[in-house]
Amino acid sequence: MIHSTQKGKFITIEGIEGVGKSSNVNFIANLIQNAGNEVIVTREPGGTPIAEAIRGILLSEFEETTLAETELLLLYAGRLQHVEHVIKPALNQGKWVVCDRFTDATYAYQGAGRGIAIEKIDEINRWAMGNFHPDLTIILDAPVEAAFERIQKNRNLDRIEKEKMSFFEKIRQQYLQMAKQSERYYVVDASNPLAAVQSTIQNILKDKL
Ligand code: TMP
Repeated sequence: MIHSTQKGKFITIEGIEGVGKSSNVNFIANLIQNAGNEVIVTREPGGTPIAEAIRGILLSEFEETTLAETELLLLYAGRLQHVEHVIKPALNQGKWVVCDRFTDATYAYQGAGRGIAIEKIDEINRWAMGNFHPDLTIILDAPVEAAFERIQKNRNLDRIEKEKMSFFEKIRQQYLQMAKQSERYYVVDASNPLAAVQSTIQNILKDKL
């Protein structure tokens, strides 16, 4: 059981496309709420009107190509709006924040996926975010093939989802590598049935927060 006397925490959910982030984001929010805490659910790219407009640009296709560096700058422009207008104010009011993707996605997608040097992302991250980072990050992990199959079935593909399988493999590996570097990460095997995934998530929250 999560103790309702604790201050709000910032929880992020990460993973490649098709691993079931959305349903687990809502599951986590319900767990937190059922324990007597106020919680908001938000997402990146997005989370404020300006950041959602930037999301539209990021996911759309134009006649000109979107440079990797442009993606990076747009993501951080939206992220700054999101952090300053939504995430920090909620945390300051003692609310919990559950966010579908955050900075780790930039290291995975723009770093490993697009090939931008990690040091460059570190630099902009430090400049835009300072020391601000999630308290806990759940990485939903599944083989790229299985996740890919799910996307193909379910959705109209956006600009990023249209990338090759090898792009998502690099992203998956980057997430797994980052997970080894800090105790804030928990890797959950998302190829298991949803009930098993949720029970693992429940244990992570129960034990650590
Ligand atoms: P999703 O939130 O619906 O999964 O879609 C957002 C897309 O944006 C997804 O393909 C991952 C991508 N993305 C990045 O490339 N970098 C980032 O930093 C974030 C937050 C998302």
